[in-house]
Amino acid sequence: MKILVTGAAGYIGSHTCIELVNAGYDIIGADNFVNSSMEAIRRVRKLCGVNFPFEEIDFTDKDATEKLFEKYQIDAVMHFAGLKAVGESVQIPIEYYQNNLGSTLSLLAAMKKHDVKNFIFSSSATVYGAEASVPYNEHTPVSRVTSSPYGNTKLMIEYILKDAVKAIPGFNAVLLRYFNPVGAHESGEIGEDPTGIPNNLVPYVARVAVGKLPVIHIFGNDYDTPDGTCLRDYIHVVDLAKGHVAALKKIEQNCGLFICNLGTGKGTSVLEMVKAFSKSCGRELPYEFAPRRAGDLPAFWADPSFAKESLGWTAEKGIQEMCDDVWRWQSKNPNGYRDADA
Ligand code: NAD
Ligand code: UFG
Repeated sequence: MKILVTGAAGYIGSHTCIELVNAGYDIIGADNFVNSSMEAIRRVRKLCGVNFPFEEIDFTDKDATEKLFEKYQIDAVMHFAGLKAVGESVQIPIEYYQNNLGSTLSLLAAMKKHDVKNFIFSSSATVYGAEASVPYNEHTPVSRVTSSPYGNTKLMIEYILKDAVKAIPGFNAVLLRYFNPVGAHESGEIGEDPTGIPNNLVPYVARVAVGKLPVIHIFGNDYDTPDGTCLRDYIHVVDLAKGHVAALKKIEQNCGLFICNLGTGKGTSVLEMVKAFSKSCGRELPYEFAPRRAGDLPAFWADPSFAKESLGWTAEKGIQEMCDDVWRWQSKNPNGYRDADA
């Protein structure tokens, strides 16, 4: 099976390329580098020992997307490409809708023309919304509207894919709802490399650990949780990548529409995360409490039982391993991929 991996140079795409090659799949990587670097692809090729094809392409360009499907025989698309910064999406919503919906629609149009019927989509737990009770399972209703334009693109793409399954005979759409991906490849060669000041907790903590930022701000310590800070279901990116390989088995069984959470089932607080990272880097990381961040939910985590039953997949790596791996990546690459690009 030949798989087109969009967003292959990005954080989750790069780790998934390795697991796909390790599992014996042929891949074609593609990215426009709006939030990544060619160095990630070079390192992925080295780590998996395969010089797989890679194309620099913007998937909002319908003609370029179409040409890619002419050039390669593609059996399935794993669609990681997208803009993902929640706060930025509030500032520039049109660009988010244009990029995330536009790229998905170009891909689906090219797939229809070339009779490619398998699509795996990077969705998010954010589709469940503020009213849902925890833990979230796949029967938990999705929200009518999420807390950000970014989240709304996920919700809208889910609807587009549901309609495609209804309309196109034999079309398979796997919607994987990720919880909070963190961690890095155990080699320390690839990892998350946000530009500017990170918005997400673990990349921010990693920058403090490596001395690039002075102090961690913990947004809120007065939530109704055991230590007053928010709880999230952090999942190691390599476990998440393996979840995608498991999902391909469903595609091979002609699943039609298949929706699945990818999480661990465990909630970890912000303070617990900071303590675990302090252990990884060998010093107490400085933190201070700051006001709550607008839009944050106090606590949510996955019910991972359906993934286990249906895919035979369970997350294996715990919080300490996630932090150890991020620290290895960040300390080996304090400037991310930028040193190698220079
Ligand atoms: P990332 O930014 O590291 O990777 C996305 C990649 O897509 C980048 O390399 C970027 O250059 C590329 N890209 C963006 N728009 C493109 C376009 N129009 N054409 C070609 N390439 C394009 O993000 P990630 O963390 O690896 O996320 C991958 C997917 O998973 C995204 O769709 C994201 O929304 C989703 N997701 C991520 C998280 C998370 O916390 N990281 C959580 C839930 C869902
Ligand atoms: N936090 C801090 N300080 C920081 C950054 C974050 O205290 O500097 C806290 C947040 O307030 C939150 C927790 O750490 O309580 C986790 O925050 P993240 O920004 O790391 O993650 P979120 O849960 O807010 O969002 C993530 C992804 C979204 C996705 C969502 C649900 O970034 O893409 O999970 O899956 F939509």
